[in-house]
Amino acid sequence: MVNYQYVRYGRSEAGASLLLAGSERGEGDGREAWGGSRRGARPLPARQAAKELTLYAKIDTNRIPYDFKRMKASDYFDDCIEEIGLGLEAEHIGLSYFNYAEDSVEIIADPEQLKRVIDNIIGNSIKYMDKEHGLINIRVKDVGDFIQIEIEDNGKGIAQKDLPFIFDRFYRTDASRNSATGGSGIGLSIVRKIVEDHGGKIWAASKESTGTVMYFVVRKYQEVPNE
Ligand SMILES: Nc1ncnc2c1ncn2[C@@H]1O[C@H](COP(=O)(O)OP(=O)(O)OP(=O)(O)O)[C@@H](O)[C@H]1O
Ligand SMILES: [Mg+2]
Repeated sequence: MVNYQYVRYGRSEAGASLLLAGSERGEGDGREAWGGSRRGARPLPARQAAKELTLYAKIDTNRIPYDFKRMKASDYFDDCIEEIGLGLEAEHIGLSYFNYAEDSVEIIADPEQLKRVIDNIIGNSIKYMDKEHGLINIRVKDVGDFIQIEIEDNGKGIAQKDLPFIFDRFYRTDASRNSATGGSGIGLSIVRKIVEDHGGKIWAASKESTGTVMYFVVRKYQEVPNE
């Protein structure tokens, strides 16, 4: 049984946050780290891992062929999340989605690479899920010059000592190195690079055994007013 909620223009945050609500309001409940993310619902087959490493090499030397487009934020994220919903259904993880952005708001982004960002973050939420009733809550918010995306899970969480490093290349927490989950620790470093190449930034708040929230922003497209 999967709880799939799909809400546009939610007026109230009530019930929107599964957990860590205090940290979002800056009450110091969760811990924050600036940095970046990647994918991996399951141990990566060697060939795919090699592909990701090749991508990293390209990203590293600024050879990633970005194809930036001007697009409607709401349409883009609605489509992404619809696709993600199908994947989560297969994993028996519940999804809530709240899109607070106006229909007209546009972003400048490479749709494919931005999708990679979301897939990587969700991939981690799936991979590090330790609850019987896994839940992912995605929020799209308008925060002035940026659109902010928040992806929250109720998985195993990340220790405070690890949080500042999760966006570093090859960094994996002791907990994930010692577990059966495969991975090379490059996912979040690729994600950070892509987000930064979009003029945005990414950070996380987490509480061990409670869950994790990944936040990232992408700049809105804005007309330059004529003088
Ligand atoms: N949603 C999450 N919940 C718990 N821990 C997480 C989450 N996302 C990331 N982490 C921790 O951050 C580390 C770095 O994540 P990253 O995606 O870069 O690497 P990985 O998942 O270990 O490997 P790869 O993504 O290359 O397959 C992970 O090893 C894990 O310890
Ligand atoms: Mg990963």
